[in-house]
Amino acid sequence: MELIRPNVKFKDSFYEAATELVGHKGSTEGHLTIDELTSEEVFFDHVKRKLDFEHNPDLPEGYVNETTFWIIENGEYAGRISVRHRLTPKLETYGGHIGYIIRPKFRKRGLATKALTEILKYTKEELRITKVLLTTDEDNVASQKVITANGGVRDKSLDDQIEKIRFWIEL
Ligand SMILES: CC(C)(COP(=O)(O)OP(=O)(O)OC[C@H]1O[C@@H](n2cnc3c(N)ncnc32)[C@H](O)[C@@H]1OP(=O)(O)O)[C@@H](O)C(=O)NCCC(=O)NCCS
Repeated sequence: MELIRPNVKFKDSFYEAATELVGHKGSTEGHLTIDELTSEEVFFDHVKRKLDFEHNPDLPEGYVNETTFWIIENGEYAGRISVRHRLTPKLETYGGHIGYIIRPKFRKRGLATKALTEILKYTKEELRITKVLLTTDEDNVASQKVITANGGVRDKSLDDQIEKIRFWIEL
């Protein structure tokens, strides 16, 4: 498994992922589905936008810089993981720093767990962040396992106010 910045060379397997996600139960984490990929232009713009978000100093109101990696397994696009460079009050409550999705075909092989381990290294070494927030839905057992396998510790301080489960990982 490798983490690589979004790259149009993975177009074919990205389209396969977008096809698998149609009608799939559970969260798509905002991933494009094949219905939304109405032209090549949409795909190219998506890649450009993800790359731009890493360094753009002039993002729309409420957005923060975010580094996106594509998870590549044996040369194929297997999913996405990203880290936000800072938290806003809303992210501190709901979204957290890191989000990920593995395409259905590649699930239950340990990829999300490994991808999180890798992005945490980047988060510490490149972004100099030492305390990382991740949030999940209460019924997302798989994601909770991914986080606890990487040292996540439950923060129950907002449990009576929000439905999300929040974890901190100290790096
Ligand atoms: C959550 C998700 C990223 C997990 O990806 P994955 O690559 O399958 O995860 P892993 O293979 O690393 O599995 C981690 C653990 O969860 C378990 N697991 C995986 N899918 C599971 C499921 N559907 N139900 C219960 N446990 C599950 C694995 O067995 C493993 O457990 P173990 O550590 O005891 O062996 C993937 O299911 C997904 O993309 N879901 C939709 C998007 C999403 O929910 N993103 C996270 C938002 S917070």
